[in-house]
Amino acid sequence: MYHKHFSVTLFFLLGAGFIFSFGCRQSPRVGHQHSFLHNHEATKPTPVPDQIILNLSEDPLHKLAVNWRTDTSISVGEVQVARSSHGPEFREQYRTVVASSQRFRHQYESEPEVNAYYHEVMIDSLMPSEKYVYRVGTDTLWSEWFQVVMPNEQKVSLIYFGDAQNDVKSMWSRVIRQAYSQFPQVDFLLHAGDLINRSDRDLEWSDWFYAGGFIHAMIPSVMTPGNHEYGKEGDLSPQWKPQFNLPKNGPSGLEETCYFIDYPLVKVISLDAEQIDESTYYRDLQKSWLDSLLKINQAPWVVVTLHYPVFSTKPERDNVELRAHFKPIFDQYGVDIVLQGHDHAYGRGMAANVADGQNTRDQKSGTMYVVSISGPKMYDVTDASWMDRRAANTQLFQFISIERDQLNYQAFTARGDLYDEFKLLKNPDGPNKLINKIPAMPERVEELIN
Ligand SMILES: [Fe+2]
Ligand SMILES: [Fe+2]
Repeated sequence: MYHKHFSVTLFFLLGAGFIFSFGCRQSPRVGHQHSFLHNHEATKPTPVPDQIILNLSEDPLHKLAVNWRTDTSISVGEVQVARSSHGPEFREQYRTVVASSQRFRHQYESEPEVNAYYHEVMIDSLMPSEKYVYRVGTDTLWSEWFQVVMPNEQKVSLIYFGDAQNDVKSMWSRVIRQAYSQFPQVDFLLHAGDLINRSDRDLEWSDWFYAGGFIHAMIPSVMTPGNHEYGKEGDLSPQWKPQFNLPKNGPSGLEETCYFIDYPLVKVISLDAEQIDESTYYRDLQKSWLDSLLKINQAPWVVVTLHYPVFSTKPERDNVELRAHFKPIFDQYGVDIVLQGHDHAYGRGMAANVADGQNTRDQKSGTMYVVSISGPKMYDVTDASWMDRRAANTQLFQFISIERDQLNYQAFTARGDLYDEFKLLKNPDGPNKLINKIPAMPERVEELIN
C-alpha cells in the first residue's frame, strides 16, 4: 500500500516536473541566449560517464591519459582496454585499470552547484602504431567502447585551435567537427588557450565537451591555459586539473599548465602564459626550465604553445616583455614553431623585434610564429609586416604534420577551405628554410570582408 501510494505521488511529481520543464523550454528566447533550465538540466553529471577525454602523456607512444565524470552516486571507476579486433572478441581480452577518483563541488555565481566525481586513469604499456579499444565506467554503467590509434615513431600530426572561448556549443562545434571530418587520423588536438570564457563556469565547460563529443574520446588533446582559464583572483580554473590529465613534468607549482610531451620526432612544450604575465617568479622559473629543457633536447623538432602572442596581430597590442624574455631562448635553441591565441585573428610569419619593433625581419631567426582563432569572437588584425598571411573575421583550424626533416602546415577556414600553407625544411647549418604556398583565396582583411 505504501509503495503504491509512493508510486502515485512520484508519478505526479515527475509529471509536474515534466510539464514545468516542457513549459519552460517552450517559452520564447531571444537571439543566442541560453535557456537557463534547459542547460543546467542537460549538463548535470549522471551516474553514466560523460565528458570522456583523452590527453597526451609525456610519453605519447606508450601511455594515454583518460578522464571522465559522473555524479556523486559513483565514487569509483575503471578503464577496460584491449587490442582492437575485427569482431567483438576483444571483449574477452581486456585488462582493467582502476581510476583515481576525486570529489568535485563548485558553484558559479548564482547558478546551481555542481557536484561530481572526476575519474582519472593513465593507461600504460601501449604499443606504437597499435589500435586499441577502451571504455570507462564501473559495474553496469559503462561508456561505449572507443577505438584509438597509437602514434608511430616516423610521423606526428596535430590540429591546432586558437581560442574557442565564446558560444562554444553554438559556434565552435562546427570547427572541431570540420577538422575531425577532414583529418580523422590526426595524432592529437592542440588548444592554445581560452577554451572557454569564464574559467569556473560549468555550463561553458559542458559546452566545450559537447562540441567535441566523441572526438575528445578518440583523439588525445593537449591544452595550454589562457587568461580565461584563470579567475579574477588569479586562480586556475577549478575544473582544469580534475577534468584533464596533462603532464606534471614542468616547474613546481605549474603542474598541468607548463609541461612537455616527448615524441621521438618532436618535443611539444606548453608554457603558462598567464603566469609569465602575472608573476615574475613563475616567469623566471619557466625561463630557466625551458632553457634547461632545450639544452638537452634530442628531438629534431620543437613545437611551443603559449596563449599570449610573442608577436601580436591586434592593432596597438604588443607583448614587449614576453618577447624580451622568451624570444632569445626560442632563437638560441631553434624552436621551430610557436602556436598562440588570444588576439582573435589570424597571422603568421617569421619575425624578430629588433630596433624597428615588429616590422623588422631577422635573418637569424628561424622560428615561425602563428596566432589563430577558432571561435566566433573577432578582433581587428594589424598590417605589421612580420606576417606572410593574415585574416580577420575568420574561424580557422590548422593541420600540421612533421615527418623527418619537413614540417607541413595548412590553415583551413571553418568551411574547410584552405586559407594558408607553408613548409619548413630542416637545415642543419642554420634556420629552417621556409617555403610559402599561400593559396589563391584573397586575404580576408577588413576592407575585403565588409
Ligand atoms: Fe581569447
Ligand atoms: Fe586570451
